[in-house]
Amino acid sequence: MKKVGVVGCGLMGSGIVEVCLKSGHETVAREVNDELLQRGLGRLDGSLERAVQKGKMTDAEREAARARLTATTDMGALAGCDIIIEAITEDRRAKAALWQEIAKVAPAGALLATNTSSIPLSSLAPATGNPSRFLGLHFMNPVPVMKLVEIVRGIESSDAAVAEGQAFIEGLGKTTILAKDTPGFLINVLLVPYICEAVRLVEAGFGTKEDIDKGMQLGCGMPMGPITLLDFVGLDTTLAIADVLYEEFGDPKYKAPPLLRRMVESGFYGKKSGRGFYDYGGGK
Ligand code: 3HC
Repeated sequence: MKKVGVVGCGLMGSGIVEVCLKSGHETVAREVNDELLQRGLGRLDGSLERAVQKGKMTDAEREAARARLTATTDMGALAGCDIIIEAITEDRRAKAALWQEIAKVAPAGALLATNTSSIPLSSLAPATGNPSRFLGLHFMNPVPVMKLVEIVRGIESSDAAVAEGQAFIEGLGKTTILAKDTPGFLINVLLVPYICEAVRLVEAGFGTKEDIDKGMQLGCGMPMGPITLLDFVGLDTTLAIADVLYEEFGDPKYKAPPLLRRMVESGFYGKKSGRGFYDYGGGK
């Protein structure tokens, strides 16, 4: 079993921590401050509790999983990790700055992975100090449920790093696909324009959000309609991905709809903030 470090304990990070713990890995969860760390741990404990309630794990298994966790704000705790997965906000500069910090403590042979959903790896690789050991491990939300992880091979990622990443993800019980280091990789270059198109339909008044969702869910067999999915993955994250796609390709088809940007500016981030296109009782 490998010792895993997860940097960032938000929606994605806490899910990654959960699947690593459940698979038997000793795991370090690192957040930037105690408030964010406690929020991430609350999410983790809520999800583990649901798993116990549903009979997917026993109380003893939950306790054993929890005992494998080190939760900390100390970057130095990553020093003994075999794999370090960065899962912070989708911001190129913030990620690059963080990787410079991680590079100071990461063991020389550690596998270094980013959970970025769109940012080209080559723009982060130099900051890691070890580009041949760096790759993308793009988990899907909700991490404990979705079966896929997209593995992204950077220009300098070694064959050994990609093979190790694949073996690690398969050990978590998940399936992989391999993507090249192109903006949005394979998943989000398809998914985000689809979601943005749905927002444009709402913006133009061509239909209600409820009908658009119902159409895609009941008419096309999607588990969620695009507007519900947008609330679910986060308006801020989706906007950040759309901006990367537009900046990289320069094609208007990737341009974020103004309504999406206005909502993010207004603090409507989706389910996680209590309100996106739908109201989840967040008080706003
Ligand atoms: N954590 C753990 N388990 C969860 C969960 C969570 N957050 N949410 C749901 N589950 C589990 C439930 O416990 C349930 O398990 P069971 O079948 O063993 O009882 C199962 O998932 C189904 O949940 P529900 O019955 O409550 O609800 P649904 O049947 O509506 O499923 C869903 C919920 C799995 C989220 C489903 O609606 C779905 O697949 N939605 C689409 C999600 C999707 O497309 N994700 C990818 C987004 S793109 C992405 O992440 C990339 C990023 O870069 C943007």
